[in-house]
Amino acid sequence: MLAGKRILLIIGGGVGAFKSLTLIRTLRERGARVVPVITKAGQEFVTPLSAAALSAEKVYTDLFSLTDEAEMGHIELSRDADLVVVAPATADLLGKMANGLADDLASTLLLATDKRVLVAPAMNVRMWEHPAVQRNVAALRNDGVLFAGPTEGAMACGEFGPGRLVEPDEIADAIEAALKGGPLAGKHVVVTSGPTHEPIDPVRYIANRSSGAQGTAIAQALSALGASVTFITGPADVVRPTGVHVIEVQTAQEMLEAVEAALPAEAAVFAAAVADWRVVSASDRKIKKDGSGALPVLDFAENPDILATVSAMGDGRPQLVVGFAAETHDVVEHATAKRARKGCDWIVANDVSPETGIMGGSENAVILISEGGAEDWPRMGKDEVARKLAARIAEALA
Ligand code: CTP
Repeated sequence: MLAGKRILLIIGGGVGAFKSLTLIRTLRERGARVVPVITKAGQEFVTPLSAAALSAEKVYTDLFSLTDEAEMGHIELSRDADLVVVAPATADLLGKMANGLADDLASTLLLATDKRVLVAPAMNVRMWEHPAVQRNVAALRNDGVLFAGPTEGAMACGEFGPGRLVEPDEIADAIEAALKGGPLAGKHVVVTSGPTHEPIDPVRYIANRSSGAQGTAIAQALSALGASVTFITGPADVVRPTGVHVIEVQTAQEMLEAVEAALPAEAAVFAAAVADWRVVSASDRKIKKDGSGALPVLDFAENPDILATVSAMGDGRPQLVVGFAAETHDVVEHATAKRARKGCDWIVANDVSPETGIMGGSENAVILISEGGAEDWPRMGKDEVARKLAARIAEALA
């Protein structure tokens, strides 16, 4: 619930803007106060009168309004909220935010606020996929801006793909996740997830079959318990968790740098399937067949072990470090030895032999290895494993 919470809702000018009216209603039903700000383009889709009627609040539209400034200045407005939400967030608004522009009330509030910002993007799929927009999204994620969506689906323009505004209920859930209390409130947890890609040349890379599903579910479950989560993921197709700080990386080395930059944290969960080796001096040009039948020879170097590096940290070591072990045989023995070798507190071990169907599947059967020994969990959905693990982490940090 959102009782007593105050949301500053910036409504941008996109075809999904009509959903922002349902969002206002949903947020109020959950107990929040919603103060709407509508951009000039937003007003082409939603009138200030409808937003005022549904929110029962004054609606702000103009940076240079003498009466508004006299009643509540824009700086005060930007601070007088528990969370600033932009829904729909257009390509234009994301661009302004990423570049620190402030040429209207909405962008000025976004630049002036000292509160967390959650955006729900909505735009045509080609716009969403445009490198300029993706650059802005990456910059905003790095700035700690929270994202809800976009999702995939049929669009008003007749195209199909990512770019759709997520439904108001899901935006409200992401807002709750960003604001909630819960046993992990005030705790920062770093989660790694997905595979890493180690380049061979500009078009080829070494990767593995990790889907990122388990790590994503863990990040979501930790966030649902109130943790502030930094989610560091290699290239994975799975939809990113909402309401968490997402950092996208390619290689093991980039993942280690992102983890080190994200610390300090109370806990760290290393669910990523990090490549153990990288190709030394990956070619910056595509390696060509030269016609002689000679085969390319790749030299490998060992990647840094992120789990072992963080486990061995002195002062900055998270209180609880959790690693994963994907094994195909003698699971408990190997995982117990891995726990000792890597110096982490817990190992979540699973049997990934092909007959289990776990790698790439929706279920998992894990054994939690801690100082106290091995604890078998029954086979269950990856979401359930995530919730159970998040609850155990909350207990350990209490
Ligand atoms: N891990 C890591 N950095 C690496 C390799 C692994 O952080 N360079 C982490 C994984 O995220 C996981 C744990 O270490 O939490 C176990 O990884 P795994 O690949 O199973 O272990 P290895 O040390 O590679 O052992 P083995 O090759 O014997 O299975």
